[in-house]
Amino acid sequence: MASTEEAVRPETRTLQELGRRHLWMHFTRMGAYEDHEIPIIVRGEGCYVYDEHGHRYLDGLSALFCVNIGHGRADIAQAGADQARELGFFSNWSYAHPPAIELAARIAALAPGDLNRVFFTSGGSESVESALKLSRQYHKLRGKANKHKVIAREIAYHGTSLGALSATGITGLREPFEPLTPGGCHVPNTNTYRLPFGISENALADTIAERIEFEGPDTVAAVILEPVQNAGGCFTPPSGYFQRVREICDEYDVLLISDEVICSWGRLGEWFGAERYGYQPDVITTAKGLTSAYAPLGAVILSDEVAEPFLAGTASFTHGFTFGGHPICTAVALANLDAMERENVIDNVRANETGFRGMLESLRELPIVGDVRGAGYFQAIELVRDQDTKETFSHEESETLLRSFLSLELYRRGLICRADDRGDPVIQLSPPLIAGPEQFDEIESVLRPVLTEAAERLHVHTH
Ligand SMILES: Cc1ncc(COP(=O)(O)O)c(C=O)c1O
Repeated sequence: MASTEEAVRPETRTLQELGRRHLWMHFTRMGAYEDHEIPIIVRGEGCYVYDEHGHRYLDGLSALFCVNIGHGRADIAQAGADQARELGFFSNWSYAHPPAIELAARIAALAPGDLNRVFFTSGGSESVESALKLSRQYHKLRGKANKHKVIAREIAYHGTSLGALSATGITGLREPFEPLTPGGCHVPNTNTYRLPFGISENALADTIAERIEFEGPDTVAAVILEPVQNAGGCFTPPSGYFQRVREICDEYDVLLISDEVICSWGRLGEWFGAERYGYQPDVITTAKGLTSAYAPLGAVILSDEVAEPFLAGTASFTHGFTFGGHPICTAVALANLDAMERENVIDNVRANETGFRGMLESLRELPIVGDVRGAGYFQAIELVRDQDTKETFSHEESETLLRSFLSLELYRRGLICRADDRGDPVIQLSPPLIAGPEQFDEIESVLRPVLTEAAERLHVHTH
């Protein structure tokens, strides 16, 4: 407990002081706030947010790839308030309530193929954790009790709970918590800018088949892949990749989980990322944009075939979360989907994707820009020391470049985006889906001078 002196009412201390003393921020080097301020965001409107000093920022990351409809929507907030008055909470454990049922039916209607069953969670990690447990129990119910492993890709992020973390392919996130849930296996991702030595684009999908053979097909339950891989910087699939993965999963009786925690709800210009690349998953995991982050909600969407063994006789999926499918969150999701449909938000992404991408491509003029990649409103710029050789930065340079300069300077100039080095250094942009040319111009007006200065500081020059 805090001392009496510390437990004073918040208004008598500044938010900065209280935040430093009491709030433990996620994935955050708390020590960094000893010499500079915690960015405290107090209000949002459309593509913009405002900090405690009243400074305005273009939210080029939709907070964390999730405020798809944009900030400050009174109608979506109202839907939550109305539901709270009507029925603030009841669970989905043997009971149901109207917003959960209506949302499940709505999602089933939008999801590709026969993905007709929806299991609600409170967020992305819970969705992935649930999908992994579901895969294991699915095979057990069908008499294949040893199928338990999951194949994921290097540098992919699938969440932080110990099961989801076993699918996450980022050494630095795994290592502090090992041993993890057993069964996580990794194959190369679709970073076509830096293909693994000796592997062509066309052979990438087959690394999954090889790994299944290596592990033993009787031990593998699922393959989990994002349509566009976030960590590492928006790796898109080569043409035909997912079609080959689908064949492999069918051949080995392995479930294909499309982890669309980011890539669904319009982010790639479709309701679901799988639609953009024309493949049919057995399971989709989602969260974030489902409510445009006005309330925490995730979902696992599964095919009739995968649901079938759980539905007969005394069988059940022995798994759940108190708040999965919370009435307020599902009501908010319904209002969000209403707004997205009414306002043709996905059409806005389709109409403007080329302009957005074109602006980012124009930054290739800067010697520090090595690659530009992504799809829809989910794009990344990879920064390099040498455009011709693709030489990347050392760990120390990455630290100075991303953490000490880029992140702070972009924010200081009013742009929220992500400078990330979980793979090679990238800047990621993922604006609200209502953004258009005005916001792209604004993004460029910050990125261009800041990247130019970064290149100068690190002595990166054109040849
Ligand atoms: C693809 C993917 N899966 C899972 C997660 C975990 O989601 P959450 O942070 O809501 O637990 C994320 C989060 O960014 C994600 O991008």
